[in-house]
Amino acid sequence: MMREIRKYGDPVLARTADPVVEFDTELKRLVDDMFETMYAAPGVGLAAPQVGVSKRLFVMDCSTKDGVQERLALINPEIVSTEGSQVGDEGCLSFPGIYFQVDRPQRVIARAQDVKGNWFDIDTTDLSARCILHENDHLNGIVFISHLSALKRDLIKRKIKKRIKAGDW
Ligand code: NI
Repeated sequence: MMREIRKYGDPVLARTADPVVEFDTELKRLVDDMFETMYAAPGVGLAAPQVGVSKRLFVMDCSTKDGVQERLALINPEIVSTEGSQVGDEGCLSFPGIYFQVDRPQRVIARAQDVKGNWFDIDTTDLSARCILHENDHLNGIVFISHLSALKRDLIKRKIKKRIKAGDW
């Protein structure tokens, strides 16, 4: 089932999400719904707060090959370490039509639980490292415009306010 994607301005996006404690069918359904919503958007990552659920999980698929899925669900993720840096264009499904360059580490080592509650490690680079860090931020109430200078952030906020007024948000 598709879920509604919350846009910037919705208080759920500014909240620190709660740990997942129940690895039950409800969680499995939420993860399935999040994948469906992310693929339909389309996007490469989606965090639970973006569908109004203040819980620590996100889904992602940064596969580059056509027709090949690389579904990854990270539940209660922890960033173990990061290294290097990369600059690249970033967007967010909660900020439709807004893209800009964000500085992120090049490599990320993280651990997380799967839908059954089993812990696993992930060591990745490039787009998937960027994605993990972006989505993990959402679980801490941080959105990607936080990574901009105050000046650029205010510019984007003004643009969004105009779009809200125009009913285009
Ligand atoms: Ni996002």
